[in-house]
Amino acid sequence: MILRDDCAALDASDELSSVRDEFRLNEGEIYLDGNSLGPVTESTSRRVNEVINTEWAHGLVRSWNSAGWMAEPTRLGDRVATLIGAQPGEVLVADTLTILLAKLIGGALDLRTDRHVVLTDVANFHSDIYIVEAMAARAGRPMTVKTIDRNTLNEELNEDVALVMLTHVDFRTGEMLDMKTITEKVHAAGSLMLWDFAHSAGAVPLDVTDCDVDFAAGCSYKYLNGGPGAPAFIYVRTKWQGALLNPLPGWLGHARPFDFELKYEPAKGMQAFVTSSPSMIALAALDGALDVWDRVTIEQVRVKSLALTDLFVALIEDRLPGVFELLTPREHAKRGSQVALRHAEGYGIIQALIERGVVGDFRDPDICRFGFTPLYLRYIDVFDAVERIVEVMSSEMFRDPRFTVRNAVT
Ligand SMILES: Cc1ncc(COP(=O)(O)O)c(C=O)c1O
Repeated sequence: MILRDDCAALDASDELSSVRDEFRLNEGEIYLDGNSLGPVTESTSRRVNEVINTEWAHGLVRSWNSAGWMAEPTRLGDRVATLIGAQPGEVLVADTLTILLAKLIGGALDLRTDRHVVLTDVANFHSDIYIVEAMAARAGRPMTVKTIDRNTLNEELNEDVALVMLTHVDFRTGEMLDMKTITEKVHAAGSLMLWDFAHSAGAVPLDVTDCDVDFAAGCSYKYLNGGPGAPAFIYVRTKWQGALLNPLPGWLGHARPFDFELKYEPAKGMQAFVTSSPSMIALAALDGALDVWDRVTIEQVRVKSLALTDLFVALIEDRLPGVFELLTPREHAKRGSQVALRHAEGYGIIQALIERGVVGDFRDPDICRFGFTPLYLRYIDVFDAVERIVEVMSSEMFRDPRFTVRNAVT
């Protein structure tokens, strides 16, 4: 039996414990939804204030030059690169994830004009499926998008497949895919590989260089804590830069934007994937949020993440045997940084928990998701969260009609 004191002892020896002070968290609340929207850090607030009150207020239009605003998408790209195992100059921060996926898909389909199939996962995030279908329909040749069971990928790979697009950590179950093995198989079939890192960046160690990944994109509002609707990031392996064209070109991706030439000529490197003016306040928030990674490594985060999720699963199974179905793999190599529990009353359970100060979220039709961000979560938080889940389940308060009213965001 695991005691609260055991958890307190783990916190006392936790080398990440002081990082929690960087975050603004509500007193008494246990936030298990950093896999949806990460909380704000002191450094984020400082940096946003600096951009608004100094660079914008006083510098005004001069700040595009004097404060280096134009270089922010590539400078922040280099900061994110260290978290995904990319080289400097291979990552850019801009737009939002779906838009960046559109750029990568559109560009990639033009690199494999002799092929007409795109494979993606039927369990992929719906936005990924919408955008791949839309880009395939505009490829300039007949294309087929196959939404497959990802476990049948081997059978589906052949010389027709131009591109495979998968999400590395499943947004429902938290299952993490074997990026290296899958990328190798995709390349062996002569196809290109695009990974969605929405639930991976800042959550698990990634090494796009070692895994020979062609393209990837991810959002920064989850485990990178960049803020609601924060800009996303795009990775293009050096060998594809120059060859992969941005299907949504804009003036700031031009080689000479202030020459106002009528003919588009892409800038060198990742700059070519910039379409529009950088969103400076949003970039400032991400810049501040990334400061925390100057002090911690993703490997330290991973060790604690696995310990937190192991602890949560053990406590749930000990205190509430047979109540939930565990959807997240037990195997460490297959687990991201969230735990998904299935229950027919999942929506009401999550709403009741939020009222009891444990914030998780719900994914249709019956999944309770709990995200574990080691930067600010303590072992005692996991213990206390499970205590509150036990209260909600034993009192059956989740059945109260007020918890059945569906919010727009679940
Ligand atoms: C796996 C995955 N892909 C894509 C998206 C869409 O991101 P965006 O709203 O930045 O387009 C999300 C959002 O949560 C996601 O989880």
